Amino acid sequence: MPDTETFRFRRFLEDMVAAGEIDVVNEATPLSAVAERLEGNPHGVWFRQAGPEKQELAGNVFGSRRRLALALGTDERGLLDETIKRLRKPLAPAEVDSADAPVHQVILRENEADLTALPVHLQHGQDGAPYISATLDFSQDPATGNTNVGMRRLMLRGRREAGIDLNAPSDLRAIYGGAHGENSRLPVAFAVGSHPADAIAALAMTPPIDELALMGALRGEPVPVVKCLTSELRVPADAEYIIEGYLDAEGWTEPEGPFGEYVGYYGRLKQNPVFHLTAVTHRADAVFQTATIGGRTMATTDTAQLCALRTEQAVWMALESAVREPVAVYCPASTGGMYNLRVSLNQRVPGESRNAIAASFGSTADTKHVFVVDPDIDVFNDDQMEWALATRFQSDRDIVTSSGFRAVPLDPSLQGDRAGAKAGFDLTRPFGQADAQEWQVPDPPVFSDGGSMTVEEALQGGPQSFRDLMEASGSDDGREVVRALEPFYAAGRLERLDDGRYALK
Ligand SMILES: Cc1cc2nc3c(=O)[nH]c(=O)nc-3n(C[C@H](O)[C@H](O)[C@H](O)COP(=O)(O)O)c2cc1C
Repeated sequence: MPDTETFRFRRFLEDMVAAGEIDVVNEATPLSAVAERLEGNPHGVWFRQAGPEKQELAGNVFGSRRRLALALGTDERGLLDETIKRLRKPLAPAEVDSADAPVHQVILRENEADLTALPVHLQHGQDGAPYISATLDFSQDPATGNTNVGMRRLMLRGRREAGIDLNAPSDLRAIYGGAHGENSRLPVAFAVGSHPADAIAALAMTPPIDELALMGALRGEPVPVVKCLTSELRVPADAEYIIEGYLDAEGWTEPEGPFGEYVGYYGRLKQNPVFHLTAVTHRADAVFQTATIGGRTMATTDTAQLCALRTEQAVWMALESAVREPVAVYCPASTGGMYNLRVSLNQRVPGESRNAIAASFGSTADTKHVFVVDPDIDVFNDDQMEWALATRFQSDRDIVTSSGFRAVPLDPSLQGDRAGAKAGFDLTRPFGQADAQEWQVPDPPVFSDGGSMTVEEALQGGPQSFRDLMEASGSDDGREVVRALEPFYAAGRLERLDDGRYALK
């Protein structure tokens, strides 16, 4: 009987409370107060009594790189590496009976199923309606039979209808487009309340595969799945909630939005398909989940953190074949987790930095600006990146721009264009010149003890730097070396080599 507790959302919440990562709010909280409590909060928040029904609701849970890393048993720097390692080992799911599926403990069908009975709050002042936002969607690709998993929000339109945004390029959009072409409904199920590993897998960009196996890869264990009650779809049996239904055959016909989006601004009202509810199932002690997005504090949002990791993953996989020695990739979540990307690499031959830029442009990531540095620059460190841009870059020589790329329509700087521009910033030092003195980075002097020569004896042994003279003469001060050099200057016996060392004439 597969384990249905280890990867439960509630279990992860409990671990994060113990790690000091989640604030617990015990008092009753109206749904209208939830968004403000989450905005810009570096912690997740677990509301124990949300809304008049006093339901459990947690938000911002994936909104930090540290929490995503802890979910995979690693740290912030190790997160990408661990994700890639896991993605390479897909694991087929394990089917469990409905009777053994915790998410089938409570079953609500037909008129009992009601989206407005869930603790769904209004996230931003101009949103079209409350959105169910921490939603992993499951559908089946009729061409391959594979389960497709992604994350898509649902805008409440009533008790049994919701809008879904299928504007951006995605597999679900392609599957629905195909199904819609044949004028048919597409069954879709949404899991709400999931372990971070499941969300990371849902966003991963890999060649076509059954994505339930990718979820198994990220967990490191087969996902226990149960058949939906109203479709043939398989969904995680250990989720907190499952929302079952279908996209109707009408296509992109109904207004959806506006919504405060991952780019930081509102996405406008759009024409989108409609989701029709057929059942809600949940655990007896289910915790609902909400995901933050957009605004001025994007780095603390679930959406930007998940997107950043997905961008890094897609680019890393592209770099592995484009250059020999990529070292690190980091996408700051503050830019939406997509648009600005940092890459460090060991250039083995001239031009590899440009290959890295081209590979990033051509990958499935929607990156617009790629900053490439040598491995001595820490891509996680803003100060070092600013320094590299300031000192290793000439804008008329080291910038690569290109246009007409696939773009996400939500980017307001496109001003309505369908395709967008990209720029690469080559912040690497000139190839092969890293050892030249003007590229050497100053460090405090380090001395080993014990020298007992005079300055003259040291210079008789060959050219010496000032530090060498201090070390050779056992100086722990330095000024007496200056005094010792004085007579050599006066006697015209001292010369300075191009690298600054002192030598006797
Ligand atoms: C919290 C969250 C919400 C998202 N909501 C949407 C959405 O409503 N519509 C959309 O097209 N993409 C959305 N995305 C991005 C997609 O989930 C992502 O592109 C995914 O890889 C699509 O999967 P697919 O290509 O397998 O269909 C969201 C991402 C996150 C992290």
